[in-house]
Amino acid sequence: MRITVLVGSPRKGGNTETLCDALIAGAEAAGAQVTKVTLRGKKISPCVNCDYCQTHDRCAITDDMPEVYEALLRTDALVFATPIYFYTMSAQLKAAIDRLHNPIRGKLPIKYTALLSVCADDTQKAFDPLKATFTAIENYLNWKHVGEVTVTDVDNKGDIAGNEALAKARALGEKLAKAPL
Ligand SMILES: Cc1cc2nc3c(=O)[nH]c(=O)nc-3n(C[C@H](O)[C@H](O)[C@H](O)COP(=O)(O)O)c2cc1C
Repeated sequence: MRITVLVGSPRKGGNTETLCDALIAGAEAAGAQVTKVTLRGKKISPCVNCDYCQTHDRCAITDDMPEVYEALLRTDALVFATPIYFYTMSAQLKAAIDRLHNPIRGKLPIKYTALLSVCADDTQKAFDPLKATFTAIENYLNWKHVGEVTVTDVDNKGDIAGNEALAKARALGEKLAKAPL
C-alpha cells in the first residue's frame, strides 16, 4: 500500500504534524510505503479557473504544485491533514485541493482517503463543516473513506503530546496499510 500524507499545517512540529507522524508510524509498521508531503514552505497558488489545463498537459501556474501531483500520481491512499482554520481546512490545503480541478485527477490511482484534523475548540462539532466538505469531495472523486481522527482542545504547539488520539491515528495508519488493493 502506497500512502501519501498531505500535511496542511504551516506550523512545523505542530499538532497536525504530530498526529500525522503517529499515523505514519502505524502505517509503516504495517508495511506501507508512506510519503509525507508537507505544504509548509511550498508555493501553491490558488486555481484561477483559466482552463489552460483542459487543452494542455499541465497547469498554467508555475509553482510547487508539480511536486504534489507527482506524489498523488504514485499513491493508493491519500490522507488529508489540517488544523481547523475558521471551521474548515487551512488555506494551504484548500489551494492544493483546488488545483485538482485539472484533468490530471483522472489519472490518480487513489482508492482510499482518511482525514486527520485538530482544533482549539472543546467540541467535536467544530469539525462538522470540514467533515461535510471531505465527504462531498470523496463522493465526487469516488474515494473510499477509511477513517478519521479529529482532536479537540489542542491549540499551542505540543498540546497534543500524550493525547489518546495519537494511538487512534496509529491504528488508522495500520488500517489504511491493510486495506485491500
Ligand atoms: C487562522 C487560524 C484560524 C483558526 N480557527 C480555528 C477555529 O475556527 N476553531 C478552532 O477550534 N480553532 C481554530 N484555530 C486554532 C487551531 O486549529 C489550533 O491552534 C491547532 O492546534 C493548530 O494546529 P497546528 O499545531 O498543526 O498548527 C485557528 C488557528 C488559526 C491560526
